[in-house]
Parts: sequence; C-alpha cells; structure tokens
Amino acid sequence: MKEQLEAIRKGALESIGGAVDAAHLESLRVKYLGKKGELTAVLKQMGGLSAELRPVIGQLANEVRASVEKAIEAQAAVVSERALAARLEAETLDVTIPGRKAAQGHKHPMYAVLDDIKEIFIGMGFEIFDGPEIEQAEYNFTKLNAPENHPSRDWTDTFYLTEDSSVLLRSQTSPVQIRAMETHGVPIRMISPGRVYRKDEVDATHSPMFHQVEGLVVDKGITMADLKGTLNTIIREIYGPDTQTRFRPHHFPFTEPSCEMDIQCHKCGGTGCSTCKGEGWIELLGAGMVHPKVLRNCGVDPEEYSGFAFGFGLDRLALGQYKISDMRLIFENDIRFLEQF
Ligand code: PHE
Repeated sequence: MKEQLEAIRKGALESIGGAVDAAHLESLRVKYLGKKGELTAVLKQMGGLSAELRPVIGQLANEVRASVEKAIEAQAAVVSERALAARLEAETLDVTIPGRKAAQGHKHPMYAVLDDIKEIFIGMGFEIFDGPEIEQAEYNFTKLNAPENHPSRDWTDTFYLTEDSSVLLRSQTSPVQIRAMETHGVPIRMISPGRVYRKDEVDATHSPMFHQVEGLVVDKGITMADLKGTLNTIIREIYGPDTQTRFRPHHFPFTEPSCEMDIQCHKCGGTGCSTCKGEGWIELLGAGMVHPKVLRNCGVDPEEYSGFAFGFGLDRLALGQYKISDMRLIFENDIRFLEQF
C-alpha cells in the first residue's frame, strides 16, 4: 500500500507540473483528490490493515494529499501568470499611434450671414418671428391683398398642396407679417427669416427653394422716412458706411406706396460692370408702407397705426458677401465647397 501511495504521489506531481491551464488542473484535482479519485480509493482499503500499519499508512496518505494540494496550488499560480502574460502579449497597444481627430463642422455660410443680420436687427429692437413653410393661401395671398387674378397665384408659379388651391408652400415670407400682427398685435418691430418656394427654373441665380428675410414695423406715426432711414442704416451696417442706395417706385399688393431698394454696385462703384449687368446698381429688396387693407385684415386700425414692410433674398446677399458666383453651390452641401468658408 505504501508503494501504491508513493506511485500516486509521483504520478500526480508529474502530471500537475505539466498542466497547461486552469481547466486541466481542475481535472487533475478530481482525478487524484476527488471522491472517486485515486487517493480516496486507496484510503478505502485501510480497513483491512493491521493496527500497527494503519497509523503509518494514514500518515503517509495525509502527506501525499498535502503535497498534491500544494503542487496544485503552485501550478495554479504558474498557469494564471502564464495566461496573463499571453493576454498582455495579444492585446499590445501602440500608444505612439496618433489619435483619430473628429472633424469639426461649422456654420453654413448663408446661416453665418443670417446670424449677422439678426444681430443688427436685434440691436435695433426687432424681434425674430417664425412662420410655417406650408401655408394657407389665405395668409400667403388673400390677407396680403393679392387679387384673385394675381400672377403669383397661378399654379405655374406656386407649389400648391391641395386641388382647391387653399394650401401651398409659401412663395414669400410676407404671410408672417399677418401672423405676427394677429398673434403679437401692434406696435410691432419684427423680422422673419425662412425658406420660400417658387416654380423657378434652376440657374446661377434662381432656385425653386430660397430664403427671404421679411421685416415689419407698425406703430403710431410711422412714415416713409422711417422706412428709408431704417433700411439705409441696416444696409450700411452690412455693406459698409459709404454704401450708396436708391429707392425706385414699384408695386406690391400689400404695400402702398411700394418701392425697390438698390445699392450702388460694390464692384464697379456705379460705372457699370458684369456684376451689375452694366446698370451701376444692384436690386436688393422690396419694401413699402403697409397697405391699409392689410392692417385692417389683421384687426389694426389704419387711421391710428401705420407701418412699413420689406423683404429681401438672403441667398443673394450671402452670394454677394462671399463673392460666390452660383447659387446652386450653397444648396448642394458639398463639403469641399463649404469647407472654404
Ligand atoms: N414679398 C415680396 C417679394 O417676395 C417682398 C416684399 C416684402 C415687398 C415686404 C414689400 C414688403 O418679392
């Protein structure tokens, strides 16, 4: 029996020393020390031993058990260290590789221009209003005093959304004048920037979707002098203090009298060039004194209040400011183009 025990010890220590991982080690523990293991099998035979031999063999058996346990423990440490080393090797990081930079975007050039414009108007006490792009014909035309046969009401000019021509994509930001007077009341000083839609052919200066900024001032005693003074001040803020302007008579259904405002060509200084098409002047915006009918349509008494309104194309303003030759470029959202600003 003594030989048996020694053989178990020898075999166990050898195979434990060769164990490669924790699972292997566990299977060896079961093999030698488990309930059905080799050592237990030997101990079960001890009942047949003489009284003198039993304690001797018992002690040896305990020694064998202790040395096998110790060997397993020692090998467990070796195996786990080896596993850690292997992991570290496999997961090596090269900390010298430069990090990946997240590309940082910036404002679209047109919205940068819009932000500058908002700043100027806010500085003059204007509020910013928003209006829906899907608009009722009532607001886009009727309340703005556009007659039933006005050409802009035609299906060839405006995008309608219903067969009965009652809902459309707004063709101008002027309906926000009406909404602002209805919800805010007068006196009022507001601008409303936003998208507008027209069935225009696409070319360098036209797009079926573009942006306007509408403006409205209504108070007691507002005159054409306020209109001219305000617009001149703003245009000189945008284009510089020496900018020359001129006002030409025009017609809009919702203003009376109406005008258009031009600035002297900043490229040729008024002598005529390709930018101003030989005119010396560049058309900038439409404006006028709010028509008494429009005031009345919004519940405002034209005997008591008067006002002026204006509207300009934001896209063209941005083109001019950044010297961009083609409007399509600012809507295509080609990163290579936008990154230049
Ligand atoms: N809504 C006009 C247009 O689209 C511009 C305008 C606005 C004119 C306000 C006068 C007053 O052409």
